[in-house]
Amino acid sequence: MEKFVIEGNTRLCGEVEISGAKNAAVAILPATLLIDGITTLENVPNISDVKIICEILCSLGAKVTWTDIHTVVVDSTNLTCTHAPLEMTSKFRASYYLLGALLGRCKDVEVGLPGGCNLGARPIDQHIKGFEALGAEVEYGQGKINAKADELIGNSIYFDVVSVGATINLILASVLAKGTTVLDNVAKEPHIVDVANFLTTVGADIRGAGTDVIKINGVEKLTGNHTYSIVPDQIETGTFMLAALASKGDILIKNCIYEHMDCLSAKILEMGGKIENFGDSIRVYSDSKIHPTNIKTLPYPGFPTDLQPQIGVALSIADGTSIINESIWDSRFQYTNELNKMGAKITSQGKTAIFEGVEKLTGAPLYASDLRAGAALLIAGIIADGKSEIYNIHYIDRGYENIEEKLRKLGAKIERINEE
Ligand code: UD1
Repeated sequence: MEKFVIEGNTRLCGEVEISGAKNAAVAILPATLLIDGITTLENVPNISDVKIICEILCSLGAKVTWTDIHTVVVDSTNLTCTHAPLEMTSKFRASYYLLGALLGRCKDVEVGLPGGCNLGARPIDQHIKGFEALGAEVEYGQGKINAKADELIGNSIYFDVVSVGATINLILASVLAKGTTVLDNVAKEPHIVDVANFLTTVGADIRGAGTDVIKINGVEKLTGNHTYSIVPDQIETGTFMLAALASKGDILIKNCIYEHMDCLSAKILEMGGKIENFGDSIRVYSDSKIHPTNIKTLPYPGFPTDLQPQIGVALSIADGTSIINESIWDSRFQYTNELNKMGAKITSQGKTAIFEGVEKLTGAPLYASDLRAGAALLIAGIIADGKSEIYNIHYIDRGYENIEEKLRKLGAKIERINEE
């Protein structure tokens, strides 16, 4: 079992390079299954979720080759199987994208019911409603889900909730369907636009990604021999912006997209941090006490739930009381118990948490409950007095590439220890 050991009390200063977006990569890799040919993906984050998807693609007959640490070539010309290994697909949430991709290409698919981070109930009823509207028969139970169709025919689908996964899955399922599909009340996250841009590059006809309504005109086939570079990771960018603020540091965050960070930037300024925009890099610095503020998580362009634990760390040492209202996930405040072990004063009930700012956090043994909670604990360990040990770091490895090396370059005293 691996853990991180951190000696705290560090201001993070220096430069950091952002990796390609996890949430785009875990959708675009399955999307290559729709292509009758070879695709080269650049700026692929080298993280454990991506490695698992590559293994699953291989098990379906695709040929996957890493030509360098961030470039993956996928040849999906000859798929040999439409049933993904259950033990692999049930390990992570984004395996649901295999449903849309294989249904779209082969009209038949079986995957394990998606696993992933422990954030509370994660239904996929909107995905299923969409597949059925296109003409698929969907069955699930005993830990797996099957979908099949004689043919998929475009339809109008109105989502009852704004869902990143359902939006992308229905794009995947409809790009090769007959006729036109209209998806209404869709999610608008940067990685949705990235998936649509990728599919358009390989020949799909998708309009309106990034707005509330997406229209897809089905095409006969998607073609190979294209190269596509995955968008920079919005959440990793935000994690380092908040690490700069919480540690009263000074970080130049490179290879990122400033416009994707508007909502967080506004909050950081409200909290007393300073920001400079250089287009594809952002400098965040702070030397003053953090001001309290209130946060409500919302779908993009609102405040991202995936940055809620990280901003919670900054609010735990703010000069006053703040409130966070989590509107997306039921169990996203588990990290507050860990921060309280460090001397924070946070009370949470249901989807609301009240943060009474304290002067200092102190090091403690800490347990990551999910990916972004793990990122928050890293920041907490770095700013705290004394030593922290962080357990369950496999969650962090799911979504942050080489995180300890990136943090060490910024001055963090962090070691990965393999404990038998
Ligand atoms: C994606 C992200 C995750 C992020 C989340 C919200 C990936 C791989 N993961 O997860 O990191 O926290 O978006 O930004 O991109 N819902 C339903 N029925 C459905 C689908 C969703 O009720 O069929 C609800 C969920 O319970 C949740 C909300 O809709 O309350 C948003 O979920 P969704 O956007 O689908 O999240 P994911 O795609 O699972």
